[in-house]
Amino acid sequence: MTHTILVTGGAGFIGSHTCVALAQAGYEPLILDNLGNSDIRVVDRLARITGRAPRWIEGDVRDRALLDRIFAEERIAGVIHFAGLKAVGDSVADPIGYYENNVHGTWVLTQAMEAAGVRTLVFSSSATVYGDPERSPIPEDAPCRPANPYGRSKRIVEETLADWQQASPGWRIVLLRYFNPVGAHESGLIGEHPQGKPNNLMPFVCQVAVGLRDKLVVHGGDYPTADGTGVRDYVHVMDLAEGHVAALRKAQEAPGLLTLNLGTGQGASVLDVVKAFEAASGRSIAYEIGPRRPGDVPAYWADPALAGRVLGWQARRGLEQMCADAWRWQQGNPRGYE
Ligand code: NAD
Ligand code: WQD
Repeated sequence: MTHTILVTGGAGFIGSHTCVALAQAGYEPLILDNLGNSDIRVVDRLARITGRAPRWIEGDVRDRALLDRIFAEERIAGVIHFAGLKAVGDSVADPIGYYENNVHGTWVLTQAMEAAGVRTLVFSSSATVYGDPERSPIPEDAPCRPANPYGRSKRIVEETLADWQQASPGWRIVLLRYFNPVGAHESGLIGEHPQGKPNNLMPFVCQVAVGLRDKLVVHGGDYPTADGTGVRDYVHVMDLAEGHVAALRKAQEAPGLLTLNLGTGQGASVLDVVKAFEAASGRSIAYEIGPRRPGDVPAYWADPALAGRVLGWQARRGLEQMCADAWRWQQGNPRGYE
């Protein structure tokens, strides 16, 4: 029997790639998305990649009546919960809106799952819960000191899900802390298309390469790193997608709560990314060094050993492939799914 997995936020960047990995692993993804930050034309692209369009429902995870209907009508084996808001700057300007969506949304979902007897949940957390870490690589038991409302919303969800699992030990929960997801599916048919000016490095570099932006401003060239620019753990979105399938399988094995980093374990600087992107695209990326971005941490990367041991998962795709795949998507789809 094919297991149906409810994928909240499944039309978004990481969710859509995870739908590919789920379909390829024999699961049936069912997308629930309010399309607040995505374009449902992604399902046609998913059909071209996997041979079958995923079913989808337009709606909000905070809509309890809708969730009750979905759980009553479908045989859902588990939930992967991506739906949420993710822009750090917006969360500073609208903290309550972020807690409302990310925290309250998860609580409504959890209560609907409990009522329906669906107790398997994989949750999208973020390395941002670590804040400014004391050292890298960061293990999962490092202190969590999120530095903004977005990060706190993820941490509050982690803590409340841990409380919930203690109270209801039949639950199977995996909290996945992603580092910096980038890249696109190898086909170039799906990828990330931020609305407006991109906040994140890789989409910005893509837009410079394709001629939509003049130049990249590097946020700080005087950090205590090898070349003075910020260092992060960039992880290919398809590696991440496969990590979700492994996490789901693990959750299905036994009740409990697991917290796992998903990263490569390797740091790359802003200029490393620029160089790798130039090599992958054959375009030169104009850039200038600007001031530091407030709130940025100089350098951090994951200790992914626990995910390796527990899930048998490790990132397989390197920075070259992340850039090559991001470029293929950007070049083929300069205006996203339009
Ligand atoms: P995304 O914005 O592309 O995807 C999120 C999806 O959720 C969107 O399709 C949006 O329309 C939908 N959504 C938002 N609120 C909703 C709601 N209340 N009900 C239904 N649908 C809703 O973002 P993404 O990069 O794919 O991120 C997915 C998840 O991973 C998010 O929870 C994010 O916080 C987390 N995460 C992302 C990153 C990153 O850098 N991209 C890093 C760590 C964690
Ligand atoms: C990477 C590096 C920048 C843009 C954010 C969120 C985090 C997580 C992932 C969700 C840094 C530099 C960037 C630019 C630059 N999201 N940069 N010029 O800040 O590590 O993480 O996304 O959970 O919560 O905070 O990612 O891609 O913005 O930046 O020089 O125009 O690139 O300073 O060193 P970040 P990023």
